[in-house]
Amino acid sequence: MALAQPMPMHPGSMPAASAATAAAPRDGRVPVAFPPALKREVLATMRMHLQGLAQIQQAMAQGRYDQAARLASMTLGMSSMHGDQARREARYMPPGMRELGARLHMQAGQFALAAQDATATGDAARPQRLFGRMMQTCVACHASYRLQ
Ligand code: HEC
Repeated sequence: MALAQPMPMHPGSMPAASAATAAAPRDGRVPVAFPPALKREVLATMRMHLQGLAQIQQAMAQGRYDQAARLASMTLGMSSMHGDQARREARYMPPGMRELGARLHMQAGQFALAAQDATATGDAARPQRLFGRMMQTCVACHASYRLQ
C-alpha cells in the first residue's frame, strides 16, 4: 500500500518571508480536474464519509453493530451519494481512482452485512477487520490523487 505523502507545513508555522519563497512540498499525487460544482459536492461527500467512519467506530465500541451497519449504508455505501453523483464523478476519474471509489462502496456493503451478522453471532472480529480494510481504501486514494 502506498504511504501517505509528507504533510505540508502549516503556513502559519513559518515567518511570512520564508513562507513566500519556500519550495512547495513535494506532491506526487495525480491531479484530477472536476468541474467546480461537482468538486464541492464530492468534498462534502468526503466529509460525510469521515463522519461516518467516526460514528461507526463509536457504535462498534458500544457494541451496537446494527447501528454500525446502518451508518455504513447511509454514509459510505452507494446510497450515500445522491442521484447520479457516482456516474457524474466517474466520467472525470482516471480508471485507478474509479476502481478505488467502487472498492470503497463494495467494502461498505460487505461491512454492513458483517456488522449485521455480528448482531446475531457476536463475531465482532470480522466487521472490525473489514472496517480497517475500508479505511485503507480511503488512505490509498488520498495518497494517489488530488482534486485540481
Ligand atoms: C476514489 C478516491 C477516494 C476515496 C476512496 C476516498 N477519498 Fe476522500 N478525497 C479524495 C480526493 C481526491 C480528495 C481531495 C484531496 C485533495 O485535493 O487534496 C479527498 C478529500 C477528502 C477529505 C477532505 C474534504 C474537504 O472538505 O476538503 C476528507 C475528509 C476525505 N476525503 C475523507 C475520506 C474518507 C473518510 C474516505 C474513506 C471512507 C475517503 N475520503 C475515500 C478521494 C477519495
